[in-house]
Amino acid sequence: MARRRFIRTVAAAGAGGALVAEAKVARGDESCDLEAVAIAELSDVGLGNVVDFEYPIGSDSAFIARLGRPALGGVGEDGDIVAFHRACPHMGCRIEEVNVQDGFLGPCGCHRSQFDLSRGGIQVVGRASQNLVQIDLEIIDGTIYAVGVQGLPYGQALTQGYAGEL
Ligand code: FES
Repeated sequence: MARRRFIRTVAAAGAGGALVAEAKVARGDESCDLEAVAIAELSDVGLGNVVDFEYPIGSDSAFIARLGRPALGGVGEDGDIVAFHRACPHMGCRIEEVNVQDGFLGPCGCHRSQFDLSRGGIQVVGRASQNLVQIDLEIIDGTIYAVGVQGLPYGQALTQGYAGEL
C-alpha cells in the first residue's frame, strides 16, 4: 500500500494559539508539519455551496462542500462537511465538476474517473487507482480550518512546499 493515507492532526494550542497538523505519508516514516489554515466560515458552507481554497501550498486547488448527509471524515453538526483536492489521482487533471447533490466529484475531463465524496474520495468510475486526497478539517469557534492532508496530491512530493523537517 504505497503512498497511502493518513495524516494526523493535531492540536489547537489553546485559545489564540497556532494550530499545527502533523502530516504523515506512508512512504517510510516521512512526515512533515503543516500549518493549519482557516479556509472558510461555517456559515459560508451551506448545502450546495462549494468553496475553493488552496492548501497546503499555493498551487494546490481544493474545495470544501457540505453534502447534506454524513461523510467519512466529515465535520460539522451532521458530519457532512468535507474537503478534497481537485487533482485527479489518475494523471493529475484538475476536476471541475462537484456534484454536491449526489456526492460525487467528476467525471474527470481527461478519462472520466468519478469519486465518492462521502466515502473518503474513493473512485467509483474510471481509471484512477487511488482515492482523491482528502483534507482534514477542524471547526473552532465557527471557523473551518484545514489541518492536514490524507496523502499527497498528484505530482507533489513531500519536499515541494510541504514545509517542515523531513
Ligand atoms: Fe482523471 Fe485520467 S486524469 S481520469
